[in-house]
Amino acid sequence: MMKKITLFEGDGIGPEITDAVLKILDELHLPLEFEKYDLGLTAFEKTGTLIPEDAIESLKRNQVALKGPCTTPIGHGFRSVNVQLRLLFDLYANIRPAQTLPNVKTRYENVDLVVFRENTEDLYIGEETVISVDEVHAIKKITRQASKRIIRAAFDYAVAQNRKRVTCVHKANILKKSDGLFLSVFEEIAKEYPQIASDSLIVDACCMNLVMHPERYDILVMPNLYGDIVSDLCSGLIGGLGVLPSCNRNDEIAMFEAVHGSAPDIAGQNLANPTALLMSACMMLDYLGYHSEADRVRHAVLDVLSHQELCTKDLGGQATCSQFAQSIIEHLK
Ligand code: NAI
Repeated sequence: MMKKITLFEGDGIGPEITDAVLKILDELHLPLEFEKYDLGLTAFEKTGTLIPEDAIESLKRNQVALKGPCTTPIGHGFRSVNVQLRLLFDLYANIRPAQTLPNVKTRYENVDLVVFRENTEDLYIGEETVISVDEVHAIKKITRQASKRIIRAAFDYAVAQNRKRVTCVHKANILKKSDGLFLSVFEEIAKEYPQIASDSLIVDACCMNLVMHPERYDILVMPNLYGDIVSDLCSGLIGGLGVLPSCNRNDEIAMFEAVHGSAPDIAGQNLANPTALLMSACMMLDYLGYHSEADRVRHAVLDVLSHQELCTKDLGGQATCSQFAQSIIEHLK
């Protein structure tokens, strides 16, 4: 039976990288049908709405989406479409696996960690109050319920994927009540998983350790803001933003997207690296049960990455986005 998937191309480089990914997926001849909807600035320019109602209905119906990046104005303007979508669908777990790609030249050879970022609260609830022109307060919200479900998701993943350790990343030395609650929930839940080792680390020390010894980490679970920052750091460990995939999910709906943004500096020039979105699509194939097809694509990506001249500019090559996609198609076995 044909499985329908909601597709958001997004803004900036979004249309270029989604086009590349769809061409590659097409070669797999799977019973997948993509329902395309505008989202973000692109949707706003056409319809006056950032998240059109028909796009929402489509995701409710299909329960799986592949999403390109959406632009958010800095310091003014509308609230992030990404944050709005995650809240609208209560996609509480943002899962970002950072794994060394053997043929991508980086400072490290053996990174294999997964960041579990809480996706619905913390400073991202957007409650900022202007006290005066010289003072603004922002609310950091941490609840037991949201902490429980993301921490449990991290431990369940560790069990399912045969991982060894879950580390809680926090700043409970300073934020004793909010991050203190997150840490205490972690310590409670860790007891339910005696087969998985657990420990905790202050976020600043975590950043230093990740740069010094990323191979020591396995699963990292943390509140929203730290997850946003630490996962970008992790992308740097494996070759940059162009290669880090992610999944935003709850227990029914899953939305797969690259970690990077809309890259306005290179948009429309056919320069973007589609690997992160392609690896996100592979996570989606795994989620849908198409494991061997996901592996086929991953092997082709690794093959292509071993030829520097076939890589995109961000990885030191000369290929355009569409040439890179064509090389992957030619390397599918
Ligand atoms: P960005 O991730 O778009 O770009 C940062 C740098 O990485 C740029 O130099 C860009 O050219 C490069 N880069 C990113 N993705 C690349 C790719 N696939 N291939 C080659 N190079 C790539 O971050 P930036 O510039 O801070 O944000 C731009 C816009 O994207 C903002 O409006 C921001 O809010 C939004 N954004 C959206 C996200 C999403 O939709 N999930 C996530 C992060 C940012």
